Amino acid sequence: MRIVSGIQPTGNLHLGNYLGAIRNWVRMQDEVTAQGGQSLYFLADLHALSMPHVPADLAASTREMVAALVACGIDPERSILFNQAQVPAHAELQWLLNGTARMGWLNRMTQFKDKSGKNREGASIALFTYPVLQAADVLLYQATHVPVGEDQKQHLELARDIAQKFNNDFASDLQPVFTLPEPIIPPEAARIMSLRDGSAKMSKSDPSDMSRINLTDDTDTIMAKVRKAKTDPEPLPETAEGLTGRPEAANLVGIYAAMSGRSVAEILCEFGGQGFGAFKPALGELLVSSLAPINARFVELRADRGALDAILHAGAAKARALAAPTLEAAYAALGLVRG
Ligand code: TRP
Repeated sequence: MRIVSGIQPTGNLHLGNYLGAIRNWVRMQDEVTAQGGQSLYFLADLHALSMPHVPADLAASTREMVAALVACGIDPERSILFNQAQVPAHAELQWLLNGTARMGWLNRMTQFKDKSGKNREGASIALFTYPVLQAADVLLYQATHVPVGEDQKQHLELARDIAQKFNNDFASDLQPVFTLPEPIIPPEAARIMSLRDGSAKMSKSDPSDMSRINLTDDTDTIMAKVRKAKTDPEPLPETAEGLTGRPEAANLVGIYAAMSGRSVAEILCEFGGQGFGAFKPALGELLVSSLAPINARFVELRADRGALDAILHAGAAKARALAAPTLEAAYAALGLVRG
């Protein structure tokens, strides 16, 4: 088993990123490496060029994200942790795959439609070919499994289509160039919502900082944000069905469940019938005790630029070595002469 996944280096990691994606990466790293498999995780800094960006912010976010991933439990000794920009094979393979990917396939990608919105003419070419780079990211390493959120399923299907067509067109059945990767979408992939609005996803771009718990928040801040989180006047229900139509209550109970590794039913067994006056302090304390060690490691690592760059440097060297044979096979299959 070889798992490969990427994350865009946005600054300001929050509880939604941790419970939604990163914690799952850590779990998969632990499982896969225990079985003798491999895990590769990278910062998708090349993908960041698809939207307007500030160069200095991109560099800072890339390093900050490495600190966050390591603080959350990604172990650079066991996983290959790197950024795309230090492994030119990603960009090279994307170009080779551009000959195989079809306009019609990319035209169907919902993320492009969402992100370009009404301004399709003004969208960057990088935004349009974003999914081809994503295909290169995983095909380059012969990934067998790709942990992603539900929203990335379509891009993974495209990667499979590209791999399949490339193998058909340019390789023999006995020696395919690419492995078809399987998406792994965690069933309970926690969808953490804003603390101010139970119907909006927790997001770093929400103007209100009170809407999210940041990995950098200290104890007092976390307790205050939970205390002020939006709720309704009813006590907590005894069963999960009782949360229907109560998005804020459902979110807080969901966060408690995800953080403690228990089910919503179990949490309601304990807190059902009680008001938020009792539940919120319990939730606040759980968050503080779970996030404190991550927060401490993050703050320390973030300040050590030398250590962060060394992690990326070492990870990229391993990634380049792993990518080389597949990249060469793709060049050769296409009839490109490499002396
Ligand atoms: N597009 C992914 C996202 O926004 C990030 C990503 C880039 C990725 N390349 C990848 C995820 C390769 C999995 C595999 O979440």
